[in-house]
Amino acid sequence: KVVAVIMVGGPTKGTRFRPLSFNTPKPLFPLAGQPMVHHPISACKRIPNLAQIFLIGFYDEKEFALYVSSISNELRVPVRYLKEDKPHGSAGGLYHFRNLIMEDSPSHIFLLNCDVCCNFPLPDMLEAHKRYGGMGTMLVVKVSAESANQFGTLVSDPVTNELLHYTEKPETFVSDLINCGVYIFTPDVFSAIEDVSNDREDRANLRRLSSIDISTSTRTNIPTDFVRLDQDILSPLSGKKQLYTYETMDYWEQIKTPGISLKCSGLYLAQFRLTSPHLLASGDGTRSATVVGDVFVHPSAKVHPTAKVIGPNVSISANVRVGPGVRLISCIILDDVELEDNAIVINSIVGWKSSLGRWSRVQADGDYNSKLGITILGESVVVEQEVVVVNSIVLPNKILNVSVQDEIIL
Ligand code: GDD
Repeated sequence: KVVAVIMVGGPTKGTRFRPLSFNTPKPLFPLAGQPMVHHPISACKRIPNLAQIFLIGFYDEKEFALYVSSISNELRVPVRYLKEDKPHGSAGGLYHFRNLIMEDSPSHIFLLNCDVCCNFPLPDMLEAHKRYGGMGTMLVVKVSAESANQFGTLVSDPVTNELLHYTEKPETFVSDLINCGVYIFTPDVFSAIEDVSNDREDRANLRRLSSIDISTSTRTNIPTDFVRLDQDILSPLSGKKQLYTYETMDYWEQIKTPGISLKCSGLYLAQFRLTSPHLLASGDGTRSATVVGDVFVHPSAKVHPTAKVIGPNVSISANVRVGPGVRLISCIILDDVELEDNAIVINSIVGWKSSLGRWSRVQADGDYNSKLGITILGESVVVEQEVVVVNSIVLPNKILNVSVQDEIIL
């Protein structure tokens, strides 16, 4: 049997995701109309002999209850949310729940970060991992040399794929091959985490026993049950024939900002063309809006037949009303938004319950990597008629009655 664990973090993480993380945990923010965490979860469906999926985080259970029960029914695989009382780090969180994770005596454990976007080639990783015969195999990808130092960078043996060297977010260039945050382990990983934890405890005891300067010892004192997968496990175990890499040639992104989430929404919509075309709007028929490219429209949304929902990359959530003549290009429209006649949205995310008046425009130049490269309206923002909002971030509950450009409206 195999189990999958998805690390979802908690409310103190995902701060770069504001204002969108104010009213929904980042892992539940919709990409291509499905919660972010839904994409790795549905990829798990392709793993043979999958017994359970665990989400581990320090968000309140309530936040995940509804999603977890509906996805368990849909997949017919138990999906459980396990809440940490405090953050234990990416490996410490896994270790904390080892008894539950090992309940079905799995031979392998997948471990996935929730905030990465890729096509999760999990069955292929499992095959490769069995061939390598190590304790763990990590998905890796080549990125540009300039961006590599934002990630865990590594060197792997070109013939055996063994992980030879690993440095988390290095200050200088190490390699353009990086850690994708998708792993498969044998249960031996728990002993490796335990060793780190024990080692820390021994050192802490030693410090307590020796009467040296208390202030320096407390400064370096990481709690013994806080273990980071990257620095504490991957770095020390590299070059010891225990860890291996599996390189993907397909798309991969890390979802830390709203700009990148809009890009990833488009990547997942494009993937639906291959995996779930029934989720994409067709725009067929004379009584429906014009649809071009990959578009998701929630069944409860009401789109006027004269609207021009021009993709690619438009995602319309539940209970949205799209009025006559509205034009949408590359955007995420969240639940309960009202778009009045002839409003235009381009390269933007429109927050829950917001409303755009007649002939208003909400747009941006679409540079996903820059802070104001997409326009974001927080929850319940009102854009009055004919107002134009360009390259701006608007915090919740604001009423805009004049046009703005390149601004953060607090
Ligand atoms: N449950 C729980 N508890 N989850 C956690 C905790 C924790 O204490 N700490 C982090 N996470 C989750 C985050 O939500 C995220 O999904 C994942 O674990 C990794 O988060 P970080 O440890 O903050 O690392 P990162 O996202 O900056 O970088 C990691 O991922 C990159 C790929 O996206 C590293 O592994 C990099 O090497 C890697 O390139």
